[in-house]
Amino acid sequence: MKIIVGNWKMFPASFSEAKSLMAALRKGAGKSRATIVACPPLAYLGAFAGVKSSVALGAQDISLFVGTGARTGEVSPEMVKSLGASYVIVGHSERRAGGETEETITTKTTQGIQAGLTTILCVGEKDRDASGAYFTVVRAQLRSALEGLASGRAKQLVVAYEPVWAIGAKAKGAATPEIVREMTVYIRKELASLFGKSGRAIPVLYGGSVDERNAKEYLTTSGADGLLIGRVSLEPTRFLAIAKEAGSLPV
Ligand code: PGA
Repeated sequence: MKIIVGNWKMFPASFSEAKSLMAALRKGAGKSRATIVACPPLAYLGAFAGVKSSVALGAQDISLFVGTGARTGEVSPEMVKSLGASYVIVGHSERRAGGETEETITTKTTQGIQAGLTTILCVGEKDRDASGAYFTVVRAQLRSALEGLASGRAKQLVVAYEPVWAIGAKAKGAATPEIVREMTVYIRKELASLFGKSGRAIPVLYGGSVDERNAKEYLTTSGADGLLIGRVSLEPTRFLAIAKEAGSLPV
């Protein structure tokens, strides 16, 4: 099944708007043949739990700390799981830009998985150069986050290729399908070398200026197993059009 993840980021402004957005998603998703995941802000997440729906819940981040403790303001992976989330995004470029280090991302990846969350690890270069250094960047991010992970845990992992230059309103635009194809092939090879057979089964998503017009190409010719969507995930009609398209494709 293709995986379509909506990262709401720090939107919408109020809980009542968040409720309308989630209601529209759940209604429109029906019995989806794609895996749909919505990642609202943590403050809203718990209120969406406990409803039978084909829209799974995910968090946009977890704390570095596990379990419980005297850590004011922190939310552990176990707490996120108990809120009803089954996914977590780790290593998003906006968090990396905010100071998150490779070491932090490695810890969060391991701990997200250990808490029983399917962990979506984001990787991607800041910019492109003629010499292809972006492969080295992505390789280093993957190796750093995943080196110590047992191959038996690989089934709880999803990797999202998100080139930073393609993300958000100020982006140069989405990556071309050729770029995405080349990088998903490269990431799959790296994952296979890290985890063997289990590595080949790890879904690889693309994210960065995805919309209802370009989604199909990423999911077919570019070989992505799914999409990580920012802005368009706040527009239920457009987001659901992508999910519907994804559901109509063979795995
Ligand atoms: P965008 O964001 O779809 O708004 O470009 C993607 C992301 O940050 O995951």
